[in-house]
Amino acid sequence: MTSPTRISVDRTALGPEVPRRLFGTFVEHMGRCVYDGIHSPEHPTADGEGFRADVLELVRELGATVVRYPGGNFVSGYRWEDGVGPREERPVRLDAAWHSTETNQVGLHEFAGWAEAAGLEVMEAVNLGTRGVAEASDLLEYANHPAGTALSERRRGNGRENPFDIRLWCLGNEMDGPWQIGHKTADEYGRLAAETARMMRFIDPRVELVAAGSSNHEMPTFGEWERTVLRHTAGLIDHISVHAYYEQDPADPQSFLASGVALDRYIGEVADIIDEVGATGPEGAPMGISVDEWNVWNQTRWNEVDKPRVFTGDWPVAPRLIEDDYTVADAVVAGSLLITLIRRSGRVSMANLAQLVNVIAPIRTEPGGGPAWRQTTFHPFALTAAAATGRVVVPRVGGATIDTARHGIVDAVDAVATVDGDSVAVFLAHRELEASTEVELDLGAVVDAEALIVTVPAGGDRDTTNSADAEPVAPVALPVRTAPDGILRFTLPPLAWVRLRARLVDEPTRTRETP
Ligand code: AHR
Repeated sequence: MTSPTRISVDRTALGPEVPRRLFGTFVEHMGRCVYDGIHSPEHPTADGEGFRADVLELVRELGATVVRYPGGNFVSGYRWEDGVGPREERPVRLDAAWHSTETNQVGLHEFAGWAEAAGLEVMEAVNLGTRGVAEASDLLEYANHPAGTALSERRRGNGRENPFDIRLWCLGNEMDGPWQIGHKTADEYGRLAAETARMMRFIDPRVELVAAGSSNHEMPTFGEWERTVLRHTAGLIDHISVHAYYEQDPADPQSFLASGVALDRYIGEVADIIDEVGATGPEGAPMGISVDEWNVWNQTRWNEVDKPRVFTGDWPVAPRLIEDDYTVADAVVAGSLLITLIRRSGRVSMANLAQLVNVIAPIRTEPGGGPAWRQTTFHPFALTAAAATGRVVVPRVGGATIDTARHGIVDAVDAVATVDGDSVAVFLAHRELEASTEVELDLGAVVDAEALIVTVPAGGDRDTTNSADAEPVAPVALPVRTAPDGILRFTLPPLAWVRLRARLVDEPTRTRETP
């Protein structure tokens, strides 16, 4: 029998505070995220504005803190003015990013109202693809200036007396990508982002600005893009973005399960570039990393199935795009990516699970009078967002390892803990495909330990998904044994994600076993 994996959490080794903005999400005018997703006037639960109450309820249950809006690639061709004023007068436009028709029935006012009801801080993106400094600062003035100017009075005339007071702003999206409308070189984008930032700060000095980093770690310009953009924008922006999607190669599921290692490395490399350039925010504040798109995404299916279907047809309204059905394995990976983000709290200032509804999303819907349901990935996110408060503690993990083709040998159990007063939460991802792992968890003296596990349900396998008909993948209680030595013991089945919570009590005198 193999010896147990020992995880030790030193309650005195407190790291940085976990930013609440780490649990952000993303709503893009793409596919059925907005239309037929959060907004569906014909649905029996729709409110006076057309937003589905059943979806809103699930969004609240998810417990996200921030929502990025309205794109994504969509924003690079978007005219924000199209989405304000009387709905019947709003123009219908082609959305070239997703080869769709945009009705503009949801715009800033409706969305901000919905986000308020959902308890989400809006992170607004401006179009730096087809537009620039003037349109970005106009939007900011429209949204945040109290009154007395043409733009602020227009907002008030459109029914919003008080400013929206949006603090977080993204300066464009993925401008390094050749697929992006208005794609730019690093110098072109860096200059434009700097000038836009300067003007936005003149209009409202309280804004927090995010410059677009690389679209992904494999971009040929990764690294040089960040250096150049940071040289142009240092002192004017507060955060630089990271976008990271992971996909399962069916021939190498083990590497996929260890995707957190790749995200950790990516964040580390961006942090090193920030330090190398010496980039700080306004008044010397530390430059944050905004992981404002992250998730599991089957991009092969997008490229081979969805994209050819949509891009060669008509210009549909809200077509089904990248509606990935998430498996148990995907939930373990999503949970493990959250563990990485928490562990990197010192550098990662915020993060956004992309996206929220239907489009690679934790929440799915069917139109008409159809249901809304939780995908497998919903659970690690909701359980983490609810409990990861206070300060980070990086546990010592010793024991089982797995050998991966892409990331080498890594711990079978990925772990992080947070300590908030007398509460401790431990998050574990068990990345082993076949075997169970016995765990000994040393938290010092605790009481009231309770653990929830998301894993393969009885009769299922690692590809089990939830659907409109049934949600077999949901958290269940994990039995935890407490021995007189204070060590918590439990068994992790293959492919599992766990959240354990306990109350810290003063350490009694005891002889701690050395692992
Ligand atoms: O989230 C889907 C798309 O992925 C976003 O629009 C884009 O920014 C990224 O490439």
